[in-house]
Amino acid sequence: MNRFRGIVLVAGATGRTGQWIVKRLQAHNIDYRLFVRSEAKALDIFGPEHAERIVTGSIENPQEINEAVTGCSAVISAIGAYVTDPSALPSSVVDRDGMGSFAKTARSRGVEKFIQVTSLAVTKPEHPMNKYGNVLDMKLQGENAIRSIFTDQGFSYTILRPGGLQDGNPFLHQLQFGTGDKLMGVIDRSDLAECAVVSLWHPKARNMTFELIRGAEVPQSSLEIFFEQLS
Ligand SMILES: NC(=O)c1ccc[n+]([C@@H]2O[C@H](COP(=O)([O-])OP(=O)(O)OC[C@H]3O[C@@H](n4cnc5c(N)ncnc54)[C@H](OP(=O)(O)O)[C@@H]3O)[C@@H](O)[C@H]2O)c1
Repeated sequence: MNRFRGIVLVAGATGRTGQWIVKRLQAHNIDYRLFVRSEAKALDIFGPEHAERIVTGSIENPQEINEAVTGCSAVISAIGAYVTDPSALPSSVVDRDGMGSFAKTARSRGVEKFIQVTSLAVTKPEHPMNKYGNVLDMKLQGENAIRSIFTDQGFSYTILRPGGLQDGNPFLHQLQFGTGDKLMGVIDRSDLAECAVVSLWHPKARNMTFELIRGAEVPQSSLEIFFEQLS
C-alpha cells in the first residue's frame, strides 16, 4: 500500500541524497518526477525509462520551477549550493533566494507539502561552515521563507536538518531526532532520504523543523518509530 497519493517532485534528484530519495519513493510505490539541471546526468543515473519523469531547470529560474511543480502535490528538495567550489553559484542564490522562490512558486501552483533538507547548526552564526559564503545563515533564511509560506491551512512543511552526511545503506542504525539545534553527529544519506519520504504522511512531521543524527548500529525494519521523538 502506498502511504501518499499524488506526484512528488524530487529536486536535486541527481545529488547523492536526491538519488536515495528516488530509491525510497520507489520502495514505497509513490509516484515522482525529477527536477534536475542535467537531463543527460539524470538519464545516466536513473535510466532511459525515466525520460518522461524528468524536468530540467535550476532553482534560480522561477519559470523552470513553475513548469516542474505543475501537477505535483509535494516537493522533496535536497538541493544545496556547492559552497567549496568558487565557480559554483553562491549559497545566497541557491539556499536563500532559491529556496524562497521555489517555495513561493510551488505554493502558487497548488503544491500542498514542501519538504526541505538543510543542515544541523543553521542557527549557529559562529559555526566554521559559515566561512563558506555564510552557508548556514543562508539555509536558515531559506528555511524561514518555507515556514512562512507553507503554514496556512491546507499546506504544510517539514524541514530536516541532518548531521554530517555518510554513504551507508539504510535501516542499519537507530536515529536520534531533536529540535532547537542542539544535536551533533552524522547520518547516512539513505536514512535521511527515508525520513524525508516518511515526512510526506507522518503526522509528527507536519509543520516541523528537526535535526537528525544516527545512533547505535541496530537493524531497523522501519524508521517511523523515531518520529515519535517529535512533539
Ligand atoms: N555534506 C554534508 O555533510 C552535509 C551535512 C548536512 C547537510 N548537508 C546538506 O544536505 C543536502 C544534500 O547534500 P548532498 O551531499 O547529498 O548533496 P549533493 O550530492 O552535493 O547534491 C546537491 C544537489 O543540489 C543540486 N543543485 C546545486 N545547485 C543547484 C541549482 N542552482 N539549481 C538546481 N539544483 C542545484 C545539484 O545538482 P547537480 O546534480 O546538477 O549538480 C545536486 O543535485 C545539501 O543541501 C547539503 O548542503 C550536507
